[in-house]
Amino acid sequence: MEYFISDNIAKINCLIGTEIKKLISEKPNAVLGFATGSTPLGAYKELINLYKKSEIDFSEVITFNLDEYVGLEQTDPNSYRYFMDYNLFNHINIPKKNTHVPNGCAADLQHECIEYENMIKKAGGVDLQILGIGHNGHIGFNEPGTPFNSITHVVDLDERTRKANSRFFSTVDEVPGRAISMGIKTIMMSRKIILIVFGEDKADIIKEALTGKITEQVPASVLQLHPNVSVYMDDKAASKL
Ligand code: F6R
Repeated sequence: MEYFISDNIAKINCLIGTEIKKLISEKPNAVLGFATGSTPLGAYKELINLYKKSEIDFSEVITFNLDEYVGLEQTDPNSYRYFMDYNLFNHINIPKKNTHVPNGCAADLQHECIEYENMIKKAGGVDLQILGIGHNGHIGFNEPGTPFNSITHVVDLDERTRKANSRFFSTVDEVPGRAISMGIKTIMMSRKIILIVFGEDKADIIKEALTGKITEQVPASVLQLHPNVSVYMDDKAASKL
């Protein structure tokens, strides 16, 4: 596991952008795995900057997002499809058909999960997966207790996760109780993982995940078993390591 720690978040986002740029220049049809949430927003801005400076061409890139709420239409500003379009895809030259986010409004959610997993396989697997981490150690929407051998599945969201995410909704009751998420095994099959962690409030969980026991109770602890993980952290998140 490689660590990049800095008190300069702009510099961290720049390094992440450079790593993605390098991958796409070597493999123009790279398969990228994306996360939503606050953490990767700066990195996505950096990708937009690099595109505007003609330093990255996304025309052949394929993307798969980690997760999506069940029951939110793609046009709902709180859906993860909307988030990705608004914060990244609408600003770069990626064909929309190359971008994949699970359909949380599918009539048959189980079928959607199987199809999503198959689409990732058909694309050749994820070359580089971006991850954030939740306060309870979740990655994607894989909450504590999720089996390490899980593939894309429907999950019941933890109350802490719904509360944390309620900052984007008017009330916590509006936060959907279920989501579709890539499983832990799906994430672990990515050839490279970039885990981004910012803020003092993540210091305890990141210490537990990266240096504690590898256990399904701390989903991100599984990353200790992955051969190719880079962790990009600010000094506050790294303060307890
Ligand atoms: C979202 C996702 C989640 C977030 C995590 C951290 O697609 O996969 O696991 O990465 O909840 O969220 P933020 O970045 O908002 O702290």
